[in-house]
Amino acid sequence: MYRRLDPERMPHHVSIIMDGNGRWAGRRSLRRFLGHQQGAEAVQYVVETASRIGLPWLTLYAFSLENNLKRPRTEVNFLMRLLKSYLTNNVKRMNDNNVRIRYIGRTAELPEEVRERMHWAEDATRKNTGTTLTLALNYGARSELVDAFRALSREVQHKGLRLEDIDEAEIHRHLYTSYMPDPDLLIRTSGEMRVSNFLLWQIAYTEIFVTDRLWPDFRGIHMLEAIEDYQRRERRYGGLSDGTESDDVESLPTNQLVAGR
Ligand code: IPE
Ligand code: IPE
Ligand code: MG
Repeated sequence: MYRRLDPERMPHHVSIIMDGNGRWAGRRSLRRFLGHQQGAEAVQYVVETASRIGLPWLTLYAFSLENNLKRPRTEVNFLMRLLKSYLTNNVKRMNDNNVRIRYIGRTAELPEEVRERMHWAEDATRKNTGTTLTLALNYGARSELVDAFRALSREVQHKGLRLEDIDEAEIHRHLYTSYMPDPDLLIRTSGEMRVSNFLLWQIAYTEIFVTDRLWPDFRGIHMLEAIEDYQRRERRYGGLSDGTESDDVESLPTNQLVAGR
């Protein structure tokens, strides 16, 4: 499978909305937490595939701000415990695979002992130069934009940032994702055709791949399949395909501008 990929057209950044843990459990008449457990297992497979193919950036939506606000406390607490144990159990494997871990989101609002584990894992993998794995935790794209606007406003008020200097690059610098390029590919598992408040600014020209496969069943091979699909696409960024001849319309008389019937 890996050999089928075109090394010239590899994405630099793949982001994934890891959805469907609850459904995975439901289909087996199991409780939701067992789906989350299997989902956590799936993460490391995908991370190691990313490392093996030399993907520089992998960003995983693990826990949204809305999940934190709207799910039962028992489920949220379980997800926090699962995150801690994922970090504890996988830092060694991250180091073996040259993977560095970082986080985006309102992580300051997470429980103290979770933040400690997060810092520990970040620190322990800081020197790795392969894939940067970013976990989105307590993340919401709109709140990311709110935080960016607040930071920019402060700079206008107190640091003499001029309004005319606020451009797209300046906004990018104030996002949680300022250290990474925009995703080339966004994968969503379990079939939902929505972005659920993930990376709204950053996905302006990202290619989207939705699979019906539920997250706990997702493996590295499925990410490679998504990349293969991505490589067949043509990214135009609002332009035309290479080699498209431009119409000679300059000489078209004005009375022929409206389409005839
Ligand atoms: C994704 O699985 C994991 C998180 C959002 C934490 P879900 O828990 O959303 O699973 P479904 O969508 O109910 O199947
Ligand atoms: C998106 O999944 C969030 C994560 C995968 C962490 P959700 O299950 O929360 O999304 P909705 O509720 O179906 O939009
Ligand atoms: Mg879901």
